[in-house]
Formats: sequence, structure tokens, C-alpha cells
Amino acid sequence: MTFEPRIVGFLCNWCSYAGADLAGTSRIPYPPNVRIIRVMCSGRVDPVIILEALAHGADGVIVMGCHPGDCHYVEGNLQAERKIKMLKKLIAWTGLEPERLRLEWVSASEGGRFAEITKDFTTQIMKLGPSPLAGEKSDPNLLEGMLAAKAAAEDFRLRALVGRERELVEEKNVYGEKKLQEDFDKVMYDAIRAEYIRNRMYLMIQKEPLSVKELAKRLDMDPGQVLRHVVIMRRRGLMAVDRIEGTSPLYIALEVK
Ligand code: FES
Repeated sequence: MTFEPRIVGFLCNWCSYAGADLAGTSRIPYPPNVRIIRVMCSGRVDPVIILEALAHGADGVIVMGCHPGDCHYVEGNLQAERKIKMLKKLIAWTGLEPERLRLEWVSASEGGRFAEITKDFTTQIMKLGPSPLAGEKSDPNLLEGMLAAKAAAEDFRLRALVGRERELVEEKNVYGEKKLQEDFDKVMYDAIRAEYIRNRMYLMIQKEPLSVKELAKRLDMDPGQVLRHVVIMRRRGLMAVDRIEGTSPLYIALEVK
């Protein structure tokens, strides 16, 4: 049986949706694999929605918006660009291929471009194969990773960093200094990694009390690093000692109010 990818496409109302419409009215052929969802602006597509679609087994997700400078809400498409950049890094931590997510610019007059991008992305997803999260037997480890990624994307820390990237990189601070893009990318990388790992740990200790050693084994990490996350999570009121086994405390998740 040939694999027919199921792709979710979020298209901005003002440019890309009109571009898709033009492809249709101009009878330009393109694969029917993209289920289009019309949104007012690509910047309105929340990272959590994209992760939801992937966690529910979408083989790919594509976001299309106006070209830079053409967004009807001035900077919505640039916000989308920063969100997708963060999301691709976050998705990579789960083990799912980040190439299953793409961002493209398509204007209202670019019906041909819409068809070309749709063809190209469908081919790319066909090469990657069906999502391991599709169907009833989805990989439980990967699913837990996606849940952790979703919780990390919901958290205000990553949202705040994404929201302030332009300000931090392009504008000078009170001392007249700008943060270099590569410095910002490093901060973002560390934040994504830390939030992903903490949410993974949280999901694990929600199911059963675990020691630092066991958490480190399951996460394939150094116990010293896991302990540092434990200290932060305890400070945030996310976990507590359930009991002591031998000489090791076992930690349990606390409900977040
Ligand atoms: Fe099209 Fe913002 S209105 S991307």
C-alpha cells in the first residue's frame, strides 16, 4: 500500500490562503495531502497546536505566511519564524524528525509557488515515512517526549525568550550593547534542553517515585546533571521526596496549581 502523508497546513488568511485559492482557480495541480486550516496570521499559530498535531499522528505540519514586510499585522510572520526555529530544536529532543515541520512564505499572487512547496514538502514527508506517532501502536517513549515538549512550549520561560529575541538581538541595552545572535542561540538552546528534560522528569515521577540514579539511567544522563535539575524543580515546587530507599531519596511529582 502506498503511503499517503497526512499533512496539516496552517495558512494565513491574507496571503498564503489566497495563494492556495489561486492555485485552485488556476487549475495548477498539487498533491491533496495538505489539510488546510485558515488562520488570520502565521504568527497566531501557537507552538502547542503544532505539537498537538504531531502528537496526534500528523506526518507533517507546514505553516505558510506572508513574505517578510508584507504581514498584515506587521511582524506576525517574523514571530512565526522565531517560534518555528525554537520548535524545531524542541522537536529534535523528542527524537521525532524536525524536518516534519516547515515554514514558508507564499503571497496571494503565488499560486504556482504554493503548488511547488506543497509538492516538495509532500515528497519530503514521503521520504521520511509515516510518523511513528500515527496509528494505534505509537512509540510510547516518543509520545512521552512529545508531551514533555508540549509542556515546555506552554511554559512562560521559553515563550518569554522567543518573544524577546528581536529586542535582545537587534536593540541595544541601557549600556548601548547588543546581544550577539550566536550568544542568544546558545541561551535558547540551553533553555530548550533544560525545560525539555525537566518536563520529561516530571512526567516520569508522575507515574512512580524515582531516585536521581534511576532518572539519570532513563534519561541517559549524568546523575550530577539530573541532581541539578532536581534542585531547581524542588525550588519551583514541582517535586518532593516521597520516601528513602536504602540511602537514596525517591522523588514524586507535586501537582501544579
Ligand atoms: Fe500573513 Fe501575518 S498576515 S503572515
